[in-house]
Amino acid sequence: MAASAAGLQPDAAVVVVGSCMTDLVSLTSRLPKTGETIHGHKFFIGFGGKGANQCVQAARLGAKTSIVCKVGKDSFGSDYIENLKRNGISTEFMFQTKEASTGAASIIVNNEGQNIIVIVAGANLLLNSDDLRKAADIISRAKVIICQLEISPATSLEALTMAHKSGVKTLFNPAPATADLDAQFYTISDIFCCNESEAEILTGLTISSPAAAGKAGSVLIERGCKIVIITLGAEGCVFVSAEEPGPKHIPTQKVIKPVDTTGAGDSFVGALAFYLAYYPNLPMEEMIKRASFIASVSVQSSGTQTSFPYKKDLPLNLF
Ligand SMILES: Nc1ncnc2c1ncn2[C@@H]1O[C@H](COP(=O)(O)OP(=O)(O)OP(=O)(O)O)[C@@H](O)[C@H]1O
Ligand SMILES: *[C@@H]1O[C@H](CO)[C@@H](O)[C@H](O)[C@H]1NC(C)=O
Repeated sequence: MAASAAGLQPDAAVVVVGSCMTDLVSLTSRLPKTGETIHGHKFFIGFGGKGANQCVQAARLGAKTSIVCKVGKDSFGSDYIENLKRNGISTEFMFQTKEASTGAASIIVNNEGQNIIVIVAGANLLLNSDDLRKAADIISRAKVIICQLEISPATSLEALTMAHKSGVKTLFNPAPATADLDAQFYTISDIFCCNESEAEILTGLTISSPAAAGKAGSVLIERGCKIVIITLGAEGCVFVSAEEPGPKHIPTQKVIKPVDTTGAGDSFVGALAFYLAYYPNLPMEEMIKRASFIASVSVQSSGTQTSFPYKKDLPLNLF
């Protein structure tokens, strides 16, 4: 506190108000049936949650970042705080509660890569207005705020509204999406960034091509977003702006053999926030191309945060 009051700590350029989840992953030869106990051949714990993932990617590119989130007063929560600190993220507004456990995802993956997943959002759902009030200064002084939907939607909306009132760019990733998303999310979003299946849920349209994604993007623009980006995996993404005619398809780098695409969307969103904060004068299309490139690097190694590249591993012309 004293340090920031004395102006010794520069403000975070990218602030994430979002989720942290501990992934508990078991690898098995097949998925168990009801009531069955089977032996797996490998177990590991990973750091996940869309909020933290996106923050980690932005930080690894060199962004000064701060996360506003809630974990349990348990060992997973304490380990998560250490993980974010190791990534250079300010955890001053990372709260620990006794009222719920740290968000957890229990994941079973078979040899074919099929999985079953149970998510308990836990402490993530307890992040509230009081917490946002404590973090109000860093939110209002950021360049970019990122929110998703793994915390209570009311808290996300309030954070975006606080940021918007202070002229902070709002980057909203409506994940996981629900068909009944509060319409205020559209008007508060400077950039509304979702994947194919989320765009389908939100618009009711079927997206089978970049052209169809463009149509869905235009629907979302009509709801009040300034810029819509729909990511399409190996097909790159589609970008629609309220100020420019027609959707644009922006292909990504070809990856011959993707290793693990988990977290590609989070890598993309985190990288985009980095460019919005540090290269605000780049054309949006160029920011998207660079963020896509970074996400395409992340699909070439395994894990979620473990696959996110650092600035030092990337071509200099991205910076
Ligand atoms: N196979 C791939 N080859 C090249 N780039 C990819 C590939 N998959 C994803 N990407 C890059 O990552 C971006 C985001 O990917 P995608 O649309 O799959 O997000 P997502 O569905 O949210 O990801 P996730 O798998 O984490 O749910 C894409 O726009 C693209 O730039
Ligand atoms: C889009 O993201 C959601 C998480 O919000 C995920 O469950 C889904 O598989 C993703 N869709 C695609 C096409 O990757």
